[in-house]
Amino acid sequence: MEYLHLEVKKIIKETEDAVSIHFKQPEDKKIEYKSGQFFTFIFDINGKEERRAYSLCSSPYVDADLAVAVKRVNKGLISNHINSNIKEGDTIKALAPTGAFTFVPDETKERHIILLGGGSGITPLFSILKTTLEKEQKSKITLVYANQSKKSTIFAQQIEDIQSKNKDRVNVLHYLDEENVGKKKLLGLKKQKPFLTKAKLKEMLAPLNLKVNDPVEFYICGPSGMMKVAEDTLLSLSFPSSIIKKESFVSLETPKSKSKTKNKVEEGEPKKVKVKYLGQEYDFDVKPGVPILQTALDSGVDLPFSCQSGLCTACMGKLIQGKIDMRMNLALTDQEVDQGLILTCVGHPMSDDVVIEIE
Ligand SMILES: Cc1cc2nc3c(=O)[nH]c(=O)nc-3n(C[C@H](O)[C@H](O)[C@H](O)COP(=O)(O)OP(=O)(O)OC[C@H]3O[C@@H](n4cnc5c(N)ncnc54)[C@H](O)[C@@H]3O)c2cc1C
Ligand code: FES
Repeated sequence: MEYLHLEVKKIIKETEDAVSIHFKQPEDKKIEYKSGQFFTFIFDINGKEERRAYSLCSSPYVDADLAVAVKRVNKGLISNHINSNIKEGDTIKALAPTGAFTFVPDETKERHIILLGGGSGITPLFSILKTTLEKEQKSKITLVYANQSKKSTIFAQQIEDIQSKNKDRVNVLHYLDEENVGKKKLLGLKKQKPFLTKAKLKEMLAPLNLKVNDPVEFYICGPSGMMKVAEDTLLSLSFPSSIIKKESFVSLETPKSKSKTKNKVEEGEPKKVKVKYLGQEYDFDVKPGVPILQTALDSGVDLPFSCQSGLCTACMGKLIQGKIDMRMNLALTDQEVDQGLILTCVGHPMSDDVVIEIE
């Protein structure tokens, strides 16, 4: 597998607990990506390999450099390592940008792109915002952006600048928890956190006067609770799930709770799996309870992966033959699963003739 070695050109402290990291585009071989995609960073921490996904916040059509923004997670190993230790001139090992949460501009389209983000979830949305603005002159953009406070809002100034220069096309609606603490208390809801609710989001979207048949597309990325509120709100407004795209950074669910297959095989004989990757064919005997990716890695086969928890699609493959049980899938849509796409990190063979192709 080919790895990237990204050279850190600049680091900007965006908020108290988040930095953006800007990388040089290699002169010899430009790194191609789509708005919404992510890098997988690979670190060696105390002799152990650690991989984490970070969405590009730069736009391939607007920004000369590549950039990500990383927010500290409480007790998080890599987010704190990046915020505390990475400096200009460092090199970060990475996998090429990937991911299915993409926005591909079409200059002929006249649509309304609605971005619903929270916290560090702004990163892929910021790239989509810049790309839409640059490449779809007839399209409008609305960003609904939830944060704890004004101070913790990543890219606050840049977003304000973009909005004030493009008032007719860009509409930004901020939701700040700090502004809603008092209100909840007044309503006697002391125990409730001041987070965005379905009712509040409906109220924020109402002036947009959106109609179900409008050429509108939604992109959601943020903390799990906020993402659920956003998706539930849109579905309750009768928007079809086919126009709602989501990217989850974290999962609060345990892998088993998402299984769609009832008769799981945890005991019994290993099953045969063939993986076709980069012109090679690999055969594995996959033991019950062990994901296909883990079996491959344990055998020394370097397949692509990032989150290892069914969130990101870095390990995605196409099922050519046989049956697979995905114990957790927060990344692929039902339509993609119907087309045969699978995640090897949470995929377990359910038949003895599985063949998977990874691009
Ligand atoms: C597709 C994808 C794109 C991503 N893009 C970005 C990005 O652009 N910017 C960014 O800052 N992060 C992004 N993330 C999250 C990132 O990959 C890491 O998960 C995050 O930085 C935490 O890693 P850590 O090593 O610090 O925490 P860990 O040491 O892995 O985890 C520590 C604890 O924090 C919990 N946790 C992990 N992540 C989060 C989170 N995001 N919020 C709350 N709790 C969490 C874990 O469950 C664990 O209990 C993305 C994740 C995915 C899957
Ligand atoms: S490695 Fe992220 S979905 Fe499999």
